[in-house]
Amino acid sequence: MLSAVRGRVAAGDSVPRALAGAPGGAVSVQGLLRDHDRTRRDLLGAGDAVQALLEDPAVTDVVVHAGQAWVDRGRGLEAVAIPVGEEAEVRGLAVRLAALAGQRLDDAAPIVDGVLPGGTRLHAVLPPLAADGTSISLRPLHQREFTLEVLRETGMVGEEAERLLRGLVARRANVVVAGATGTGKTTLLAALLALASHAERLVCIEEASELRPNHPHVVHLQARSANVQAAGSVSLSDLVRASLRMRPDRIILGEARGREIRDVLAALNTGHAGSWFTLHANSSADVPARLAALGALAGLDEHAMAVQAAAALDAVVFLRRENGRRWVAELARLRAREGRLEVDVVLDSADGRCRPEWEEFSARWSP
Ligand SMILES: Nc1ncnc2c1ncn2[C@@H]1O[C@H](COP(=O)(O)OP(=O)(O)OP(=O)(O)O)[C@@H](O)[C@H]1O
Ligand SMILES: [Mg+2]
Repeated sequence: MLSAVRGRVAAGDSVPRALAGAPGGAVSVQGLLRDHDRTRRDLLGAGDAVQALLEDPAVTDVVVHAGQAWVDRGRGLEAVAIPVGEEAEVRGLAVRLAALAGQRLDDAAPIVDGVLPGGTRLHAVLPPLAADGTSISLRPLHQREFTLEVLRETGMVGEEAERLLRGLVARRANVVVAGATGTGKTTLLAALLALASHAERLVCIEEASELRPNHPHVVHLQARSANVQAAGSVSLSDLVRASLRMRPDRIILGEARGREIRDVLAALNTGHAGSWFTLHANSSADVPARLAALGALAGLDEHAMAVQAAAALDAVVFLRRENGRRWVAELARLRAREGRLEVDVVLDSADGRCRPEWEEFSARWSP
């Protein structure tokens, strides 16, 4: 319908106002389309001002909090002078966005993590948990596809790292993509999954479905929080266990952040190869401590976690972000030594030097 109308715009056509359901004379089709876009923004989007920010291709994050909006255009968060309204309006916006993401947001469920219809990632927290007023964090999905080639052009992956990343995918290594928040873990993971053989079936398990690898056979599983009767919650652990029965060629956990780590490692140690997950960590040296913390949530002691992780995981890809640049800073591997998990960095992009272990790692995982 809309394309038919757009076709008539080219011809400079106009349609009777009655067609638009309003009294009065004729109205231009351009006007109708403008109204349509505004309605779409209001209904599907985040309100005019915020939506305009989300549509800016340079913007990777928009946050709204305490009557103020900030954007990240690659240089960290900067305040922007747009009218976001009083607390009641910000709260209303958060609730409406949550509903669009198919989730509830109210006093009984005051935190929401979801994806809007256009692919924008939504996170929101209501007061009193957010002490100064409703806090909304949005991460737009830009149409630009980040293939590995594009990521190389943006300087995210160097030549050696790219070769090895391709090898890790092709040879079905089990890999952790680690880095601080917003370093590009999900983006890099999606680019790498696109390289997986098209004969493979990928099962992606996420809190909110965000990974969109360009691959013909992907199953997206999304966790679910409890309903008003505190029933029906489905955890990432439940989904990891379910995925084992779905004939997966690769199990992908969007982000390991809780006890599901135990189920994933168990799966990898019982023969599931080619699996990837992302992990928040501030340095590659922090990865063992992060894994130990997640393991503890699942009742695994440090020793058990070290043995399981070292046996299951073939590589760590560590991302860094500084001054607007994101890049693969290190490739590393894990091993258990005297019951403790240790990280050996095999490639450090900062000094460009290959470590002694590099030869062995490279020989094992080259494409
Ligand atoms: N190489 C790149 N060049 C430009 N923008 C990028 C690049 N990599 C990622 N981005 C953008 O940076 C933002 C954050 O990326 P991404 O979601 O992949 O990070 P993340 O590490 O998974 O974040 P989180 O810790 O929140 O899960 C996204 O908007 C993404 O499009
Ligand atoms: Mg991510």
